[in-house]
Amino acid sequence: MKINIKENNKNVQEFNFLYDSVGWGSYDEGISKIALDNTFYSISVYDDDKIIGYGRLIGDTICFVYIQDIMVRKEYQSQKIGTLIMNKLLEKIKELQKINPDLRVYSGASKGKEKFYEKFGFVTRIDAGLGAGMILKTNEEN
Ligand SMILES: CC(C)(COP(=O)(O)OP(=O)(O)OC[C@H]1O[C@@H](n2cnc3c(N)ncnc32)[C@H](O)[C@@H]1OP(=O)(O)O)[C@@H](O)C(=O)NCCC(=O)NCCS
Repeated sequence: MKINIKENNKNVQEFNFLYDSVGWGSYDEGISKIALDNTFYSISVYDDDKIIGYGRLIGDTICFVYIQDIMVRKEYQSQKIGTLIMNKLLEKIKELQKINPDLRVYSGASKGKEKFYEKFGFVTRIDAGLGAGMILKTNEEN
């Protein structure tokens, strides 16, 4: 395996390919393009030139930042690619925290993936003595 990392690559096809490959379904290209254009930092991981992993930071870049869409292609899971992506995103967050130490970092874990985030120091808001993280219900979830 020859690992290459790219910062801030906004390749819609690669993003959609990974999104589908981890079982999240297919995303409209136009929507993904807007999402990636408005992403302020991302990490793409390649085996040679083949996309195998991705993660991004969204938010206002200084007060509230969200870690989003950590995805590792199934054949490459459990080989610390997810860890590599998280560490790169957390390095970026450390830089931002030099400017604003009160920066808050969020992530909404998929069901069953909480343990992955716990390894990087994430806790549920309730365990941090805060109110519950809440999400607006959509029709699908009603
Ligand atoms: C979750 C995901 C990003 C992890 O990436 P990965 O490269 O397989 O993870 P790593 O090999 O870096 O594992 C890091 C640690 O997290 C743990 N971990 C990985 N996947 C996990 C899971 N699904 N549940 C619980 N723990 C998990 C590993 O056991 C490992 O622990 P260790 O350091 O004690 O060995 C990857 O499995 C994935 O893309 N899943 C599908 C998409 C997804 O659900 N993304 C999360 C969005 S919330």
